[in-house]
Amino acid sequence: MGITSDLKVLYHMTMKPIRGRSHADRLESFYAGQADAYDSFRRRLLRGREELWRQIPVPANGVWVDMGGGTGSNLEYLGDQIAELSKAYVVDLSPSLLEVAARRAQENGWSQVSTVEADATTFRPAEGAADVVTFSYSLTMIPDWFAAIDNALAMLKPGGVIAVVDFYVSRKHPADGHRKHRWPTRTFWPTWFANDNVFPSADHVPYLHRHFDPSHFEEQRAKVPYLPFVRTPYYAFVGKKRQATE
Ligand SMILES: C[S@@+](CC[C@H](N)C(=O)[O-])C[C@H]1O[C@@H](n2cnc3c(N)ncnc32)[C@H](O)[C@@H]1O
Repeated sequence: MGITSDLKVLYHMTMKPIRGRSHADRLESFYAGQADAYDSFRRRLLRGREELWRQIPVPANGVWVDMGGGTGSNLEYLGDQIAELSKAYVVDLSPSLLEVAARRAQENGWSQVSTVEADATTFRPAEGAADVVTFSYSLTMIPDWFAAIDNALAMLKPGGVIAVVDFYVSRKHPADGHRKHRWPTRTFWPTWFANDNVFPSADHVPYLHRHFDPSHFEEQRAKVPYLPFVRTPYYAFVGKKRQATE
């Protein structure tokens, strides 16, 4: 994948109008023409995914739900450990990306991986509960992201793990110990990403901390391909669902 593939992705990200009456239609309008070139470009744009995936404990016989899992590329970070899972779901609303995920699962012989065209705010695994729920750069694209986190919380077993990596901006007055972004950062990135229906939020981080016991949290900045002088902020969060209290 080279410059031609990058140009195709850049065209879809910067110039091609996104059409559609529903959220699912708009996603497919955005992704259909770039699905095959997706992984190569996003490897350089969506940072922190591999580091995050590698620190999530893989539960023996567990159920893992990757919400907005797209092409399923993150599952490769599990390496041989993927065989420990009894089931992994790649849940997404874009059939074009799911087609790539299904091909990947077949080529790798991941018989326990299913691709599901469904909304992250409502999907539930057939097993009834999940051990791990992940969101990799998908929360910023889910309009009702509160509902997506609430849904993850509801389906996780007590002690189950949620892991999220995504773009964000800080609140003007963040919690103690959290990074504070200045006005230009808080203003520029939401405006820039909105063109692609990506909405970096100041509220993901507080909401995740409120509802889960954090075991890992970091705030970073990443280079953006072809924009040498800017760094976009992203966070990575791993937390556990609290045990029920009586
Ligand atoms: C930036 S991509 C990230 C894909 C993948 N997780 C990755 O790390 O490469 C965001 C994904 O979220 C999906 N998405 C957005 N809203 C969704 C929703 N409500 N339900 C399920 N998937 C959704 C998009 O179709 C897209 O595949």
